[in-house]
Amino acid sequence: MRETLEKIRKEALEALSAPSAEIEELRIRYLGKKGELTAVLRGMGKLSAEERPVIGQLANDVRAEIEKKIDELNQKKNAALLEAKLRAEKLDVTVPGDDVRAGHFHPLSLVQRQLEDIFLSMGYSIVDGPEVEYDYYNFQALNIPPDHPARDTQDTFYITDNILLRSQTSPVQARVMEKTQPPIKIISPGRVYRSDAVDATHSPLFHQLEGLVIDRGITMGDLKGTLEMFAKRMFGENTRIRFRPHHFPFTEPSAEVDVSCFVCGGTGCRLCKGEGWIEILGAGMVHPNVLRNCGIDPEEYSGFAFGLGIERIALLKYHIDDMRLLYENDIRFLNQF
Ligand code: PHE
Repeated sequence: MRETLEKIRKEALEALSAPSAEIEELRIRYLGKKGELTAVLRGMGKLSAEERPVIGQLANDVRAEIEKKIDELNQKKNAALLEAKLRAEKLDVTVPGDDVRAGHFHPLSLVQRQLEDIFLSMGYSIVDGPEVEYDYYNFQALNIPPDHPARDTQDTFYITDNILLRSQTSPVQARVMEKTQPPIKIISPGRVYRSDAVDATHSPLFHQLEGLVIDRGITMGDLKGTLEMFAKRMFGENTRIRFRPHHFPFTEPSAEVDVSCFVCGGTGCRLCKGEGWIEILGAGMVHPNVLRNCGIDPEEYSGFAFGLGIERIALLKYHIDDMRLLYENDIRFLNQF
């Protein structure tokens, strides 16, 4: 029996050492339930009491040795497999990556952000208002009663008799004053609607930015200073502004405000149509009726308001000659900004 065990040990180790050894097959052949070593152990019962522990010890040693060899081989095999896998999956981090095409802001958003930055830097807060608005805020609170002719110039889309798509951002003035006692210093950018047919300078949907300042002792001088500062920041240090008398129902006095042409500097060119001046916004001192409508005492407080069209500024700034380009989402156009 001793010889059989030694033979098994020698054969097994030899077989396992061959470069093409099938480890699992050999394990079954020698150590498996029906394996050669197991067969020898089954015959142990026939041995004498003296021989049994000696042969038993030897059988255990042989088994341990073969198992150890198999473990070693398996470890080597796994290491080789891992190595091959890592090689196959290796990533060259020095190869240049694919281009990621980042998007960017729409020209209208760019202009809106620039406007916001300018007024934020002057201490204004940004507030939002609803686009679906009550007739009351869009017109009546702003001193435009139901039969007022100013409604004709701001015809819009009606949801019901007293709910409409706001035709201007001015209703936000009324909403803010109703909720807040002065000091008030806000801007409110957003969409507005008018039932205009689409052409190079009209769209049923466009954007405005409203400004409102209310406090004790606010004058037309404050309005002028604010708008001059704004114009210089927006159109360049040499820009001048000009107030032309105008009428808005919710401001008194009212003005249309021009900036000196930022292309020709005022001498006249194609952009300003030879005028030297470009109209950019409407403004005025908030009408006492509007203050009263919104619960602010006109004897104690005064203020100014202004409203500008964001499209208009974008068209001027980027020398775009057709407003429709801003809404068509033609990537060849948008890529230029
Ligand atoms: N809401 C006016 C318009 O749309 C602009 C404006 C705003 C005028 C504030 C004066 C004060 O024409």
